[in-house]
Amino acid sequence: MTVAPGADRLLIRDLEQLATPAGTAAPLRGDDLGSVDLVEGAYVLCENGRIASVGCMRDLARLDGDVAEVDGRGKCAIPGLVDCHTHACFAGDRVGEFSLRAGGATYEELHAEGGGILSTVRATRAAGEDRLRDAVRRHLSWMRRAGTTTAEAKSGYGLDRETELASLHAIRAEGAVPTWLGAHAVPPEFDDADAYVEFLLAEVLPEAAALAEAADVFLERGAFDAAQARRYLEACAGAGLVLRLHGDQFTESGAIPLAVELGARSVDHLEATRDDGTRAIAGSDVAAVLLPACALFLGRPMPPARAFIDDGAIVALATDFNPGSSFCESLPLVCSLAATQLGMSVEEALSACTVNAAHVLGRAERKGRLAPGFDADIVLLDAPDWRYLAYHLGGELVAETIVGGRLD
Ligand code: NIG
Ligand code: FE
Repeated sequence: MTVAPGADRLLIRDLEQLATPAGTAAPLRGDDLGSVDLVEGAYVLCENGRIASVGCMRDLARLDGDVAEVDGRGKCAIPGLVDCHTHACFAGDRVGEFSLRAGGATYEELHAEGGGILSTVRATRAAGEDRLRDAVRRHLSWMRRAGTTTAEAKSGYGLDRETELASLHAIRAEGAVPTWLGAHAVPPEFDDADAYVEFLLAEVLPEAAALAEAADVFLERGAFDAAQARRYLEACAGAGLVLRLHGDQFTESGAIPLAVELGARSVDHLEATRDDGTRAIAGSDVAAVLLPACALFLGRPMPPARAFIDDGAIVALATDFNPGSSFCESLPLVCSLAATQLGMSVEEALSACTVNAAHVLGRAERKGRLAPGFDADIVLLDAPDWRYLAYHLGGELVAETIVGGRLD
């Protein structure tokens, strides 16, 4: 690619390594998930917010005109990380509940006692749109510092018309990818989940569909059953939304067959999925989004990642950042959990939170790779080997996060 004089250019030079998922196909399955291209002694040239070229320093042509430079010595470049499952729009916290859990109470017990999701709903309803925007901005800034350059964020802590729509406005205004999670829990003013779903579809969906890209539902005992999820998702698909499900978190709930039938983009969690479900999702175009930080935070079993990958499923990794079940914004930590708890290679982990996560968000043509034409979203790791991404457990790993060719 030639570089026009006067273009907005950034050269990252003398990198120890550059690592990027191989090829240009998306999504990646099976052996392709673990296929990563590695360049030692590398550069990345960005122009007007996109990647113009990547390669070895010795092949870098002389550049005329203005070029900003970043010294990559001692650092490695990987694609900006993509977090395809977060609940970044909430007010307050659940640190008190966390401490009770640390003392032995279970997540499900706290939820049944009106704590859990509903306590965050009370705080979020009281916040108003401006404070919700502040909260989303703060949470996204934490993610950015951990190397996330594209994040999805769900509503789902409003559960009334005003707060659900304010949440979606706040998420959009702060530049996250908006998902409408109206069907997250049944709020206290409804004692019947069917009536709440009808309210959502009649009163909230028309405006939510214009603000969100996807719809999500929590299909689980104590939340919404398969019939309610179907009613909600079919209406959301009819309004043009991509479909996603929280499924098989605590119990196998029918999420996978429903997702396959409705052509959903993903089922997320899957800690409780057994062999039939694994085979069904692997044989479909529904992505399996794994959230090991949530399983860790709740002390629950990890999802059967190896079986999903070996059977050929589209596997993505995400944080599930939220105040109750995963107060964790770090995809590098998630990669460490993938490598140590899920039996995934570091290469598979990288592809799962770049290319495949971008696919889940419908952005794989522009996000998730360091290759010409892709958005210049780049993470520089303060490390001599890019696999520190998973190796440096909870460490200060990210030296720079570059978004659209600009240093933060
Ligand atoms: O993905 N499972 C449902 N929803 C969230 C938890 C939300 C909360 O506890 O506030 C999750 O884990
Ligand atoms: Fe979630």
